[in-house]
Amino acid sequence: MDLIIRRAVLPGMFASHQNAHGEAGTVDIGIEGSRIAAVEPRLAATAREEIDASGSLVSPPFVDAHFHMDATLSYGLPRVNASGTLLEGIALWGELKPQLTQEALVERALEYCDWAVARGLLAIRSHVDVCDSRLLAVEALLEVKRRVAPYLDLQLVAFPQDGLLRSPGAFDNLKRAIAMGVDVVGGIPHFERTMADGSESVRLLCEFAADQGLRVDMHCDESDDPLSRHIETLAAQTHRLGLHGRVAGSHLTSMHSMDNYYVSKLLPLMREAGVAAIANPLINITLQGRSDTYPKRRGMTRVPELAAAGIEVAFGHDCVMDPWYSLGSGDMLEVAHMGLHVAQMTGLDAMRAAFDMVTVNPARILGLEGYGIAPGCEANCVVLDARDPVEAIRLRATRLSVVRRGKVVSRMPAARAALSLEGRPHEIDFRLHR
Ligand code: FE2
Repeated sequence: MDLIIRRAVLPGMFASHQNAHGEAGTVDIGIEGSRIAAVEPRLAATAREEIDASGSLVSPPFVDAHFHMDATLSYGLPRVNASGTLLEGIALWGELKPQLTQEALVERALEYCDWAVARGLLAIRSHVDVCDSRLLAVEALLEVKRRVAPYLDLQLVAFPQDGLLRSPGAFDNLKRAIAMGVDVVGGIPHFERTMADGSESVRLLCEFAADQGLRVDMHCDESDDPLSRHIETLAAQTHRLGLHGRVAGSHLTSMHSMDNYYVSKLLPLMREAGVAAIANPLINITLQGRSDTYPKRRGMTRVPELAAAGIEVAFGHDCVMDPWYSLGSGDMLEVAHMGLHVAQMTGLDAMRAAFDMVTVNPARILGLEGYGIAPGCEANCVVLDARDPVEAIRLRATRLSVVRRGKVVSRMPAARAALSLEGRPHEIDFRLHR
């Protein structure tokens, strides 16, 4: 073998894998070349390189189903979003766009990809604005996609930020972007001038995607307006055009404010169409409910209810240090942490489900091949300084090692505090030791 990770706990290894002492059993992960060759309790083989996970969690890499890499790390350019609202963010992005250069875009995106790799985030679906006819951001992110391919899967969505019908030339630009190599068809129906235009944009984009054999991921109903119901149209068009399993609705925040009876009809429609839902908790907990006094709505979509209805749900990061969000560092555990708080997913199974929403669920939404810790899968994984997925979320655990196609691409030392208390110096971490 080329690499063996010994004594690993996998995300699904819960009670059924416990040994006689109630401890989780471990496995050895054997890697040959870029693939996982074996996952067994104890591998007799030896390897050129070994990592001792010592009972720590080894997960398939984090996957971000929703990001904006063309805007990332632009915080403060040309000014800071004073109100912190979505609409000022869009206006601010409009001010920044004419000043963008391809070089600066590439540089910022590459820097973010470095952060991502260090966080064990090895696959990102990023929207890229196509409303600037120069398609400078498209060219820049296609270049970034090529350059990071050895260590990160970057999937691009052609995103008409200013509205497909509202922004002159946007549909042509979107088609050009797809022809240049962008992977997925995007949209923003709630930002069109009327509800009718929003519906029309969904129909046009879904027909285009069906014709091209592409996936769809729309910003959909990112609004507190309970009557913003473009997700219904998106599900209906998905069903009509046979796009089942290839369409995602991103944000879907209006669902938070919708009437419960209407939602009881909507969820089965989404399930029937195989439309996935991508919630962005860090962003929507800060952007939504801005016109409320008190009580103030949380705004995130109905994550547990969507999941219970059998709909694929993922959490996305959406933004890091850009016109819409001043914080973030590419940490999908921070995203899951916020998501489970906002959705009150505090039961044990719900917290484990939150971990899936930043790993296996988005991997399925992106259509990643060879994802997982099993023989035959691509040898991509992250060793976390935690014993299980819930502890990983609680601690936003350090990524001790990140492996991409069989090679260690990042290492980080475990965080330990050196305490000096009443003459008894000792080290602590924040894992539960018992
Ligand atoms: Fe977004």
